[in-house]
Amino acid sequence: MRATDTNTLYEPQISTATSELSLDEVADSINNLTRVPSLEEIKDWFSALLVRQRDYDRYRVFTKRKYARNLIARSSYAELLMLCWHSGQRTPIHDHGGSVGVVLLVEGLLTETMYERMLEGHVRPYNTFKWGPGSVTGADVPDIHQLLNLQPEGRDMVTLHCYAPPLAVLNTFSPRSSRVRRWREDFTGGAGI
Ligand SMILES: [Fe+2]
Repeated sequence: MRATDTNTLYEPQISTATSELSLDEVADSINNLTRVPSLEEIKDWFSALLVRQRDYDRYRVFTKRKYARNLIARSSYAELLMLCWHSGQRTPIHDHGGSVGVVLLVEGLLTETMYERMLEGHVRPYNTFKWGPGSVTGADVPDIHQLLNLQPEGRDMVTLHCYAPPLAVLNTFSPRSSRVRRWREDFTGGAGI
């Protein structure tokens, strides 16, 4: 049976890893992969990551129109992105098209709402989490969720994401309709955004 508590505030996960990784080292790990990493492997990288603003400042780019997706590293087996969110910006309700995904909250407070698919085809929320800086959360296949910056006006949010294999075409869902749409994410500064 699924958990039904809502608005749970999670404390940052304390890393038990003995070594610390820089952002460049995690990017190198992704570039040097020879197979798709597991959810647990990616969580271990993120738990061991020492997040320093001077290391990620060049990827800390926001856009007014929607949350910005800034590419850090990409290989055939995984991709690493920094997403930057102004207050109010959010994803659609989506799955990951068969990829696993891990999120590290770098700045701000992340709201994540989990959904389940009903027999009729629409989706229904069953849990909401609030993630603080340092939190690591993973989405296994076939999780359906929505990420939101619901902080007050002027409060930005920065998140680090790893998807394995890299995201291709995702499905988006609605709580009001059984219609499933195909959705392809773009990179900020790339074509189409
Ligand atoms: Fe997602």
